[in-house]
Amino acid sequence: MFNKVDQSKTPIFEAVKRYIADDIIPFHVPGHKHGHGLEELTAYIGETAMKMDLNGMRDLDFANNPTGVIQEAEHLLAQAFGAEHAFLLVNGATSGVHTMIMSACNPGDQVIIPRNAHKSTIGAIILSGAMPVYVQPEIDERLGIATGVSVETMRQTIRDHPHAKAVFVINPSYYGMAPDLKSIVRLAHRSQMAVLVDEAHGAHMPFHDDFPLTAMEVGADMSAVSLHKTSGSLTQSAALLIRGDLIEQHAVKQSLSLSYTTSASYLLLCSLDLARKQMALKGHELLEETLALARWAREEINQLDGLYVPGRELMGRPGFHDIDETKLIVCLRGLGLTGYEAERILRQQYNIQIELSDIYNVLPYISIGDTKETVGTLINAFKDMVANCPKGQDRMSTIIPQTPKMIVSPRDAFYSPKKVVRLEQADGEIAGEMIMAYPPGIPVICMGEKITTEITEYIKVLKAEDCELQGAVDPYVDHIRVLGMA
Ligand SMILES: Cc1ncc(COP(=O)(O)O)c(C=O)c1O
Repeated sequence: MFNKVDQSKTPIFEAVKRYIADDIIPFHVPGHKHGHGLEELTAYIGETAMKMDLNGMRDLDFANNPTGVIQEAEHLLAQAFGAEHAFLLVNGATSGVHTMIMSACNPGDQVIIPRNAHKSTIGAIILSGAMPVYVQPEIDERLGIATGVSVETMRQTIRDHPHAKAVFVINPSYYGMAPDLKSIVRLAHRSQMAVLVDEAHGAHMPFHDDFPLTAMEVGADMSAVSLHKTSGSLTQSAALLIRGDLIEQHAVKQSLSLSYTTSASYLLLCSLDLARKQMALKGHELLEETLALARWAREEINQLDGLYVPGRELMGRPGFHDIDETKLIVCLRGLGLTGYEAERILRQQYNIQIELSDIYNVLPYISIGDTKETVGTLINAFKDMVANCPKGQDRMSTIIPQTPKMIVSPRDAFYSPKKVVRLEQADGEIAGEMIMAYPPGIPVICMGEKITTEITEYIKVLKAEDCELQGAVDPYVDHIRVLGMA
């Protein structure tokens, strides 16, 4: 019989509180010993936070091999998210993405991956030795961003690669666009392929019906969720969810333990415990409020001349099955500003820091932490910005480059000899490193791909916009490492 668990329990948090109440004399790491060894930080963040900064021990369980309070907390989290098993993560959804691919694929196995996947997916490909079969997501030309992979594209790719071991899906994208995950799961499972889902931006979705269906709800095999992004826990805390019998739990545990720290932070673990409890007990109510705020902002901003915030009207296009309305894509093309310019204006003139910007858009993230006041400030900032911005033309003719061709696998490229060339001289070379605008962390060029003039020109535009470019050894990307002898 199905046993409902008591979601008001917070076993890790309770154990930590007991440890602190016992006033134990610590002859164990961390060496700051309840904050005495780092007084300036203790004075700033408080003694309790420093006392909670503990390491694995019998009373508190061990995150690498949970048999006590962490095991109980994982069980509670699994139930809350509709999974059969959950692992608590302290190195972001990144470690979940690595583990999903490493446990589903052996070296040489094919895995179907959308080319707009986050850099953690490319990292997983290199670590596992799996061979990526890239699929193209649909592109929304007006917004200049990728939406999702259409069911048709997925069907054809599965047909063309019947021996692939797994299909990797992003649900939803950084911008809140979700593919038809249910149909993709059906297609993949008919071909005995595991479905691995990057839900870094979807950790709140199981708790309110107005969000896209989640991986666990539609029978996918694994999902990595960043609770720190949308469910209230501390930065870096996340979870890996599993269900079904295509993936063996012991293989997941083994892959995870390769890179799992042996010093998991109890601040992070406690925050996962409390965030899970809050979402399980009050998530619907909190998200009802969050959605109301996001819908209000969308409506208000859409009335402003020159701005456009896409919403439900775009749903139903190929690759864009559903939307997470809390992600507000504010398209500025009609105002003649780039997203990067708007981000700077919002920061410098209105003291607002948004989540990300790209050539055409900014993305303020609305979450359970927002209030009428914060969202009102955002709306007013956009109103003021529009009132004070001389109406420009849509001067952005930047062409988002075609996805480059993969010449060698990312893993082979990673281990190949490399030489350094100037960016302008990289045309025709094979990239030896990935370069991405961060956020969103989607590679413009991935290692092993052929560099084209379009790509170098696009990188130059991003550099001119002072966009944060990551992945290259040269932090300013004046040079790039390509395959070849130095
Ligand atoms: C789509 C996507 N997947 C995975 C990640 C990695 O998540 P984390 O930062 O929790 O490691 C991110 C982070 O931004 C992301 O945007």
